[in-house]
Amino acid sequence: SHLHNFLQELPKCEHHMHLEGALTPEVLFNLAKRNNIALPSDDEAFASPEALLARYNRFTSLDDFLHYYYIGMSVLVEASDFEDLAMDYFRHANVDGVAHAEVFFDPQAHLSRGISYATVLTGFTSARQRAEKEFGITSELICCFLRHLPVPECIETFKNADLQASFKNGAVTGIGLDSSEKPFPPELFKEIYAGAKELGLRRTAHAGEEGPATYISNSLDVLNVERIDHGIRLAEDEELLRRVAKDGTMLSVCPLSNVVLCCVKEVKEVPIRKFLDVGVKFSINSDDPAYFGGYVLDNYCAVHEAFDLTIDEWSGICRAGIEGSWCSQTRKDELI
Ligand code: ADE
Ligand code: ZN
Repeated sequence: SHLHNFLQELPKCEHHMHLEGALTPEVLFNLAKRNNIALPSDDEAFASPEALLARYNRFTSLDDFLHYYYIGMSVLVEASDFEDLAMDYFRHANVDGVAHAEVFFDPQAHLSRGISYATVLTGFTSARQRAEKEFGITSELICCFLRHLPVPECIETFKNADLQASFKNGAVTGIGLDSSEKPFPPELFKEIYAGAKELGLRRTAHAGEEGPATYISNSLDVLNVERIDHGIRLAEDEELLRRVAKDGTMLSVCPLSNVVLCCVKEVKEVPIRKFLDVGVKFSINSDDPAYFGGYVLDNYCAVHEAFDLTIDEWSGICRAGIEGSWCSQTRKDELI
């Protein structure tokens, strides 16, 4: 779009991207070979990177995507795989003009395959250090829990000594809740979020992507989250909209993801205009860029195409993103 350069140069913060979602089909195939990981032989989508990419263009739902997402990450084995993956994301983020990124990862999806938490964290931590040194991009790590797994298993993972150490030494800033949204309401995870608050961790949860607006209100009321990831179905509840606006709770909206996963038919259906009118704060994010056909700037451009926002509106969106970030006040002051 004609605002491409302006949007590129805005000091953008990304708050919703899953590092495992930065795995491109090409890297996936290379790592499968290098790490001797067998890809499903009974699914034609795994015939080639091109076939896999073509399959990504036909996702029918969140769960249809997650099936491929979990198979994909099975090729990540060594700390260097995790580091390379995150660096691939940070290089794109740099080109797109991202100044600060708060990125998710899914430890349970690796622990269950016999990959240690130390392996995952070592790789991601070195990439974060390199991104700051090479690109000046600051970042925070958000540890997500997989809501489709049995709650006792999630609680056990939260209490795992390696995770607890990373919560206490600052390697991890906050927790999130992701994977299949329905039928796994937020209140199931009350104990984990209470424990996280006790530790002084920041807290967010995916809610209102496919699930109803009550998943948003219960994330706020029961989990005490400070942000909502997606939250597009907030638009269905006028009273909750006004409450979220009044409290200044930020949504991390992912427009291209919503289209690719069939939560909406087109970007125009994402309630961006409604959020602006009501004064709901939101940031714009890529979610799983390697799977959804775009990094963060593609999402900004798609929103601009759909809503024709003014320069002031864009500046306001980026400012809200800085203010809603979980970096230090010193870093926020640099970004504003
Ligand atoms: N894991 C990765 N991307 C996700 C999304 N958009 N929703 C829920 N879980 C996810
Ligand atoms: Zn997500």
